[in-house]
Amino acid sequence: MKKKAVLLTMAAILGLSVTACSSGETSQNTADTAAATTAASGDTTAAETKGAAEEVANKDKPLVWFNRQPSNSSTGELDMTALNFNENTYYVGFDANQGAELQGTMVKDYIEKNIDTIDRNGDGIIGYVLAIGDIGHNDSIARTRGVRKALGTGVDKDGDINSDPIGTNTDGSATAVQDGTLDVNGTQYVIRELASQEMKNSAGATWDAATAGNAIGIWSSSFGDQIDVVVSNNDGMGMSMFNAWSKDNKVPTFGYDANNDAVAAIAEGYGGTISQHADVQAYLTLRVLRNALDGVDIDTGIGTADEAGNVLSEDVYVYNEEQRSYYALNVAVTADNYQDFTDSTKVYEPVSNQLDEASHGRKKVWLNIYNAADNFLSSTYQPLLQKYDDLLNLDVEYIGGDGQTESNITNRLGNPGQYDAFAINMVKTDNAASYTSLLSQ
Ligand code: BGC
Ligand code: CA
Repeated sequence: MKKKAVLLTMAAILGLSVTACSSGETSQNTADTAAATTAASGDTTAAETKGAAEEVANKDKPLVWFNRQPSNSSTGELDMTALNFNENTYYVGFDANQGAELQGTMVKDYIEKNIDTIDRNGDGIIGYVLAIGDIGHNDSIARTRGVRKALGTGVDKDGDINSDPIGTNTDGSATAVQDGTLDVNGTQYVIRELASQEMKNSAGATWDAATAGNAIGIWSSSFGDQIDVVVSNNDGMGMSMFNAWSKDNKVPTFGYDANNDAVAAIAEGYGGTISQHADVQAYLTLRVLRNALDGVDIDTGIGTADEAGNVLSEDVYVYNEEQRSYYALNVAVTADNYQDFTDSTKVYEPVSNQLDEASHGRKKVWLNIYNAADNFLSSTYQPLLQKYDDLLNLDVEYIGGDGQTESNITNRLGNPGQYDAFAINMVKTDNAASYTSLLSQ
């Protein structure tokens, strides 16, 4: 009874504070306020075991989007409605542009360092092929641009580098890319994107590793001796190409994600990869929910140490308040430093301290992975989440999608009332409303 009255008052205050505070930073939703108020009055058990799930409307529960940022898949424009779904909505990902630049530079540096041996057929053209993940995913778009920018193969389209796949371009006539030039020790080389393709299977799954394995088979059988470098927008596809062809043919292959198998393959000739600091992202994904559920400042255990000592330093993430988005920073992983990255599922030490269950009681979280077969999400991200959920006292239900249809996942969000918070990884970045409409019912 007492709690209901408090909630009603809080709901009224919330109404006021939302209008009074346009940035939304200081107002809190009912879940926060209820939890904080109850905790303050000493009624912790009720608040922690069932309070939020039973009494907070689903639309007011903390929500975090991760890995696939709500955005228009053709223009990349952020979906601010989804990012501002309620006062406790956030996105967690990584800095796509910073990472893309590293990726492009890593490939370029490798070419320069190995210029004496890289041109396999000696025609003066350094040829590369590019595996594009999902042409509508802003991370994939950024990576394509980063590679083309560093290698000088990008052409402008509407003020930015064109990120379209080109199919094949062995003669250099494609219009979505151009031949780049590279000067090393006084000698000029041409850099050509010989082929690029979105790796999507016939059922619609993107970033599809098997499709990339097939593609390199086709490309290598028709113009194999022209391929000097293989670039992939992730390690799942990169490793598939490496195992299918480039390892045996000693062609350097580059990926992204620093998955365990890819890092290990550096010892066998895989050229390099980028760590997108999944250890920081997985923490942030659950930490923002934890903070919202605890009704504490969102920066707790992030930029500001929590009472257990968890804190992140500024060199591993940035927060963009306007975009409601946390972005982890990337690090290049090459033959020089890969020994430090051999376990991608290890929790990040500065945020590895267990929270006290007495003051951070157990909460239930519904979390989905867009495609249970995505190498990065299933072999790196989810194992990390499963370690952090223990440290943060969250009982997370993990749902794995098929990577093709949103309904395969949303069908399993039939009873949102059972959960205190939600973490969502969409199949398609345009589809945020398929989830928020379920939470708004
Ligand atoms: C990862 C890819 C993954 C994709 C899925 C990206 O951030 O680098 O490996 O397939 O997310 O959304
Ligand atoms: Ca060549």
